[in-house]
Amino acid sequence: MSSQDIPEENLPAEQDTEHGAVAVADEENPFADPGLPPHEHRIQDIDARAAKRSERTVALLFTVSMLATLGFIASYVTIPNDRSIYVFPIGHISAMNFALGLTLGVALFTIGAGAVHWARTLMSDVEVADERHPIEAAPEVKAKVLADFQAGAKESQLGRRSLIRNTMFGALAMVPLSGLFLLRDLGTLPGTKLRHTLWSQGKLLVNMNTNQPMRPSDIAVGSLTFAKPEGLEETNEDFQKQIAKAALMLVRLQPENIKDKRELSWSHEGIVAYSKICTHVGCPISLYEQQTHHVLCPCHQSTFDLSDGGRVIFGPAGHALPQLHIGVNADGYLEALGDFEEPVGPAFWERG
Ligand code: FES
Repeated sequence: MSSQDIPEENLPAEQDTEHGAVAVADEENPFADPGLPPHEHRIQDIDARAAKRSERTVALLFTVSMLATLGFIASYVTIPNDRSIYVFPIGHISAMNFALGLTLGVALFTIGAGAVHWARTLMSDVEVADERHPIEAAPEVKAKVLADFQAGAKESQLGRRSLIRNTMFGALAMVPLSGLFLLRDLGTLPGTKLRHTLWSQGKLLVNMNTNQPMRPSDIAVGSLTFAKPEGLEETNEDFQKQIAKAALMLVRLQPENIKDKRELSWSHEGIVAYSKICTHVGCPISLYEQQTHHVLCPCHQSTFDLSDGGRVIFGPAGHALPQLHIGVNADGYLEALGDFEEPVGPAFWERG
């Protein structure tokens, strides 16, 4: 079909150098504007029968909408208020509410669907470039603003009343100081408090649920186990403070599934131990996806890969989960081989 058969409004705009035109990159201009891609006609642009079909589809959708509206009115008038029907899987609900919701939903949906289909298939799809107007104000506007400002300054006698002017500037300059002093309420700097947890060489890993020291055989492949350091009991006065730093999660991986091989020397028989505290803003991580070895923080969906050094693979967390170096003592119980080597939890100003 020739371009004479195409409706005029569907013909592509001429490409010129001003509106998205193709420009050739050279040494002076290495990032030349590539221009718009060539215009592709839709089937409706070149086939009158396809256009007619689209027209009928749109009309059909609008007709269905009208029928649904009539159904809405009929439902309202004819269905008794107290009649109920069974709708799987919801159960028994008011028949009138169901009919009203259904008909109104269909009426609105088909209007939307008709409008979208109309726009996508029949309305003009010619791409145009709209140049922005200059941001700088016209000289006469600038002159007027300046004149207004000078008139205002004169009327307020700012230039003549130097005492008022200077004290006003002094007051404006000092007001923000009150805000600065309030910063003190953020508390004292944490110093080394955030750098150390209760984990240390030889500290046994105690199951958070059973309160019993753990053996490697207690940790099955595919399960997520939470642990705390031995001696930390809920009755301790500072339990919340300590567990917020020392909470640990353990998973057993097949050694061949461990991507970051540095993990192997820190783990025991494929059991890896990571801080349970999210490195975004410190929520406890709790969701483990067995197939991928990903753990998910429920607060803002940060996702960490436990088979790859606790690396962040999604979400706002800023750094990987710290790993705890673990081993087994002479009695066969899992133990820590030291503290975390970096602070657990979110970033803070002294983290470095
Ligand atoms: S605290 Fe974990 S993603 Fe925000």
